[in-house]
Amino acid sequence: MYQEQPARKPITITTLAKMKRDREKFAVLTAYDASFAALLDGAGVEVILVGDSLGMVIQGQRTTVPVTMDEMVYHTRNVARGSGLALLMADMPFASYATVEQGVRNAARLMQEGGAHMVKLEGGAVLAETVRQLSRNGIPVCAHLGLLPQSVHKLGGYKVQGREAAAADHMINEALTLQEAGADIALVECIPAELAARLTEALAIPLIGIGAGPSCDAQVLVSYDMLGITFGRRPRFSKNFMTGHDSLQAAVAAYVAAVKNGTFPGPEHCLA
Ligand code: KIV
Repeated sequence: MYQEQPARKPITITTLAKMKRDREKFAVLTAYDASFAALLDGAGVEVILVGDSLGMVIQGQRTTVPVTMDEMVYHTRNVARGSGLALLMADMPFASYATVEQGVRNAARLMQEGGAHMVKLEGGAVLAETVRQLSRNGIPVCAHLGLLPQSVHKLGGYKVQGREAAAADHMINEALTLQEAGADIALVECIPAELAARLTEALAIPLIGIGAGPSCDAQVLVSYDMLGITFGRRPRFSKNFMTGHDSLQAAVAAYVAAVKNGTFPGPEHCLA
């Protein structure tokens, strides 16, 4: 009489690789504490990212640059206590992977002290050796390309990346180099949708997008942006999912559904 609900299983990098092969999209959101982690986990978010965006949305800083390793470990540990089935990804903060040795030591802290399942670092082919050593040490890696918020002072602002043909080709080569070095996932921020579509096809590993159009294998948003509690101006590529919903649970469920059925991001969230 009663149909058994299939039990949800913990999400691993193998789950995400299979979802890419099956062309099944997955949803990613940021969390910085146990309560939000439990909320996202309950809504079926596949990956919870402890982003260094916490510098901006939690601490009120202007950039992610001031965020420290100790702060990342603290927030990751809190998120780990609240999450259950989601894969827990934690950001390596500014300058915490300046050398390969530093990168391995600090990634190990996020895993051992924070309980992270994987780490994310910002940069291109210059990080190939770091990615290779992390991989050899059993640390899954997400390679963050496109707009690199930790390099905002070098970039001269938060600008769309990969617009010109040469820059687009270069980004694809960098992503392939990092995949070859052992990256398990790539993430692209603020790039033209057309380039994201090319990257999704070129890479065997899953590609998560933010401000990168609808073709990516997954989407991520800063949870505070998608719940309409943005400190300052909400980015154009984001969407307030509280509109039309009367609870946080309903808003997060609507986000997960919209990512999975491909209705988010829409054309109005794409950057040219
Ligand atoms: O720190 C963060 O939240 C991020 C996302 C914007 C992808 O890196």
